[in-house]
Amino acid sequence: MNQLISVIGAGTMGSGIAQVAASNGCEVFVVDSSQQALENSQSKLQSILSRLVEKEKIDENKAKTILSNIKWTDKIDEISKSNLVIEAIIENLEIKKKLFLQLESIVSEDCILATNTSSLSVEKIASACKLKTRIMGIHFFNPVPLMKLVEVIPTEETDGELLIKVNSILEGWDKSVVTAKDTPGFIVNRVARPFYSEALKIYEEGIADFATIDWAMKEFGGFRMGPFELMDYIGNDINYFATKAVYDGTNQDPRYKPSIIQKKLVDEGLLGRKSGKGYYDYSEKAVKPKPNQDGILGEEIFNRVIAMLINAAADALNGSIATRDDIDTAMTTGVNYPKGLLKWADEIGLDSPVTQLKELHTQSGDERYVASPLLIKLVNENSTFYS
Ligand code: NAI
Repeated sequence: MNQLISVIGAGTMGSGIAQVAASNGCEVFVVDSSQQALENSQSKLQSILSRLVEKEKIDENKAKTILSNIKWTDKIDEISKSNLVIEAIIENLEIKKKLFLQLESIVSEDCILATNTSSLSVEKIASACKLKTRIMGIHFFNPVPLMKLVEVIPTEETDGELLIKVNSILEGWDKSVVTAKDTPGFIVNRVARPFYSEALKIYEEGIADFATIDWAMKEFGGFRMGPFELMDYIGNDINYFATKAVYDGTNQDPRYKPSIIQKKLVDEGLLGRKSGKGYYDYSEKAVKPKPNQDGILGEEIFNRVIAMLINAAADALNGSIATRDDIDTAMTTGVNYPKGLLKWADEIGLDSPVTQLKELHTQSGDERYVASPLLIKLVNENSTFYS
């Protein structure tokens, strides 16, 4: 039987989730308190589907079916028969808590309630509800139809049977599903932090400019985009906010300390592509700066960033944020890393990042460079993540 899925919030994420659910044969309600948001969501989906028809990715009939599977409404009471509700409204704890409380009184007891939050605690969102066993995080990535990864986040109280049910629904939507602990940034937004912050640190220290750092990560690491290109693409406000959320949520662990440079860009409205300027200038007449393609410098940059990324992945495993395989899957399918970081670490040899981190720690005295105890343990035992 096809599921009735309701999405609350007709913004970027809610619209994407609705498109995916409807494309996979589900009946979908999209609820938003703003009429304008509902209209935008509907017309945006119409144009996305027209483009897919033009490109012959789907036919006219499929496009019609997808549209007819979705109902956009501002009347939340209409969703009472839902099997699964996914909340994708504004990232604000009090507003989300209020919504969950309201949902509890609308849907039946066997309806699963999920939040798409990126930075809030799922447990805190669920705290106002009476029936907490059916509440979990289901964290999609933007753009939802293109990004395969979904992080599922149970709380201490979530019913295991419901997790199995949700995994099967999401796999039916051709998603790659991983399970993450209810901790700041879950897997991807936590483990990926050093990609940006170490790149910013290297720049701050005057070692290389943005273009050179981006070139080094693509050339030596095989990343599709360099850190500065990616931050400009994501939006510096969103990226800064994600770093700050992880930093605050980890009791200000120095490893996640936000960069002053990034904050300055946000304060000045230099948000990246969407504002026309960030680390790079996106105006028509702008000339893209050329990297200094010095191989030794490039390798030095790559080694430093990858050591920090491996350390963050090791630390996530050490803190039981997720399993080894889920950490690696999350990074390859959530942010398109060329390899899973733990597998990559084994390939490089674990003593390499440990030596790199020790050197950086000695030179700078900065606690951000303290190696994860798990990494040190494996090196001492002459072991690897996958052995
Ligand atoms: P958005 O700003 O594009 O859309 C939010 C929508 O929620 C708006 O249309 C707004 O009118 C509606 N809304 C706000 N309060 C509401 C309420 N009480 N009842 C009904 N509708 C309400 O936001 P976006 O980017 O789609 O994010 C939504 C959620 O997804 C947030 O929790 C965000 O942290 C999370 N998220 C966002 C990602 C992204 O890249 N944008 C990635 C993964 C998660």
